[in-house]
Parts: sequence; structure tokens; C-alpha cells
Amino acid sequence: MQTKTTLAHAGRNPREQMGAVNPPVYHASTITYPTVEEMKAAETKPFDGVRYGRFGTPTSFALEEAVCALEGGYRTISTASGLAAITGTLTALLERGDHILVVDSCYYPTRKFCQDQLRRWGVETTFYDPLIGGDVAGLMRPDTRVVFVESPGSLTFEVQDIPAIAAAAHAKGAVVVMDNTWATPLYFPALARGVDISIHSATKFIVGHSDAMLGLITCATEELWRKVKSSVALSGVCAGAEEVYLGLRGLRTLDVRLRQHQEAGLALAGWLRGRPEVAAVWHPALPGDGGHALWKRDFEGACGLFGLELAPCTEAAVSAFLNGLRYFGLGYSWGGFESLIIPTTGSVHRSASRWKPAGPTLRIHTGLEDPDDLIADIEQGFSRLAAANH
Ligand SMILES: Cc1ncc(COP(=O)(O)O)c(C=O)c1O
Repeated sequence: MQTKTTLAHAGRNPREQMGAVNPPVYHASTITYPTVEEMKAAETKPFDGVRYGRFGTPTSFALEEAVCALEGGYRTISTASGLAAITGTLTALLERGDHILVVDSCYYPTRKFCQDQLRRWGVETTFYDPLIGGDVAGLMRPDTRVVFVESPGSLTFEVQDIPAIAAAAHAKGAVVVMDNTWATPLYFPALARGVDISIHSATKFIVGHSDAMLGLITCATEELWRKVKSSVALSGVCAGAEEVYLGLRGLRTLDVRLRQHQEAGLALAGWLRGRPEVAAVWHPALPGDGGHALWKRDFEGACGLFGLELAPCTEAAVSAFLNGLRYFGLGYSWGGFESLIIPTTGSVHRSASRWKPAGPTLRIHTGLEDPDDLIADIEQGFSRLAAANH
């Protein structure tokens, strides 16, 4: 089955649902059993089948089955948010005395979780340069259990050499966990590139409409799945019934939406690169970008999320530019149908690599609007920027 067909058909069986195309939303906490014997039998297999709402329902299993088919894993676990997927996975894999290697360009709450929570629990974190590649071998210790990757990096968009990092990690018996949200299961086949656990904030492109929080964890093996599933179940961060349904619904159109995000994002990024107000554009799918060669080798496509640095200008000028934008919302998150922009100056935290742009920095999520309208909106913004830049 090709990917587009998987997107349309995986995780649903109309014949089991009176012909309805989509699986129903099971609103369930309690699951009742016809006999004591069946109740006791279910207890011996806590994570198989429908037992209690927190462990999964036919709706969450449908989403998990569909995503797992796309990722080519053993099984997928849905969680209450993307961050819950990250923290749930790390909590499952690490214990007191363990060491984890985390990419310096990770999503900031991932960094905070390692620095605050994991540290309190006796797990040591070493951050590493996103461009380290196979040299990560030099940072591996006998107690390194996990190598965490995220590519491209949050806000800064460096592309990591995942196959080289995975080879170095596996040589020392560590598990490779990836935040694969930017590329989605369609544009980065994480497990085929050596990743053991692929995580998505489905809040972004999978839900795709800025109206639900959802996380997904796909494990390459049964052993990893049992470990992560039992830990996530104990943490109580199960996905909500409606959220799971919105994830399934979004998944059906992921391919067509992503292609539009990609096309419009490249048009906008390419145009920005030629503007005198812009000092740099960070978009791995743009030829000449520092990560382009690795992106071309390992990825199947790009979304429309990228970063840029403005030529040095005042804070007031940046505000004048952003405040008057018509089609770009000023808001966190991304992956919805509508364009977003945020200032990122001062939001990048580094301890193992350097990040010191001279001008103000921004992040753009290119939505599904016509790119010509988006470009015209930004062009007007640049006029406001010039007028306010004293
Ligand atoms: C790269 C990345 N990973 C994970 C998350 C967390 O996802 P959620 O907001 O669903 O918890 C985000 C959210 O912005 C993100 O940008």
C-alpha cells in the first residue's frame, strides 16, 4: 500500500461500524465485563484490548494503528500532548544513575524537562551540538541510555545526521528517540533512518487545524513499546476521545495539506531570502541552506515552518512589522491551516553550540493561504518596519 492509500484507509473498517466511513468517538472510562472470569483474564494482559479508558479505546487504537502503519513501527501510543509524549518516553527509558545525550537545538520544554525533572531524579543530561554527526560517539558513556534527536532544530532549523548518530548510539547500546514533529511521518521515515522511537506533537500537522492537543509515540520493537506504554499508562496522560478523533480526521488529509505547506513555505522563504530587510533564512529545503545536503539525502519533503534573521533594526521596528500583519497570527504552535509568526530573539537556549545572530530573529509557519497574499502582507510589513526603524 502506498502512503496516500494508507492515509485514506488505515485504522478504519466501515463494516464494523454499520458502514460509517469513520470510526465513532468512544467516550469511555469504565469498560464492563460479562463475567468475573473475563474480567480476571483481561487483567493478565493490561495493555491488550479495551480495558479502561485510560489505557485506550477503539478510537485511540484506530489512530495508533494508522500512524504505526505510516511509521513502520511495532505499535504507537497516543498521549495528551506532544510534550507528554516526550516526557513519557524519557521517563520510561531512564532511571537514577543514567545519562542522556540531548541535541542542543531541541524544543525548549524538552531541554527544561531534562534540566529540571530528570536532574531531580538523578539522571544526567549532556547537550550536544546539532551538527555533531557521528562524532557523538565521543560523548557516549557506559551509562548513556538514550540519545535524543530533533531535526531540524526548534527555532534554528539545523539538520542532524540521524543515520550517523543512530549508528554511534546503537554501537553502545543506547536507544535513539526523535522528536519528528517538523517532518511528520510522511517526510522523515525515522525508523528507517535508525531511530528507535519516533515522537510527534500531533497538535501540529496531524491535527492540522489548531484545535486539539495530541501526542504520538511510535516504537520500533515490542520491548520498547511495552516499556513506554506501561510508563505512559501509569503517568495518566492519555489522549482525550475527541482529540484522538481530530487526529484521525486530520491524518486523512495530511499529504495534500503538507504539499501545500511545502510549496507556499518555499515560495515565501525564497522571496524573503532576496529581500534587503532579511539577513538570513533558515529553511533546509532551500538550496544553499546549511542543512540542505542532509535534508536532500534523508528527508522526503519539507513543511512550511522556517526561521529568519532580519538585518539589524530596532525592537520598535520589529513590532511595527508584526503588529500590522493581516494573515499571520502572532501565536505559538504551528501546523494549522493558518499562517503564524513569532519573534524568537532571546528564545534560543544553547550550552553546547553557538547561536548569536546579529539581527532580530523570527519563526514563520506558512499556512494554506495563497503565497502571493502572504508575500504581499509581509512586503507591507517591511514598509512599516522601515518607517519605524529610527
Ligand atoms: C518541536 C516540538 N516538539 C514538541 C512540541 C510539544 O507539543 P505539544 O504542544 O503538543 O505539547 C512542540 C510544540 O510547540 C514542538 O514545537
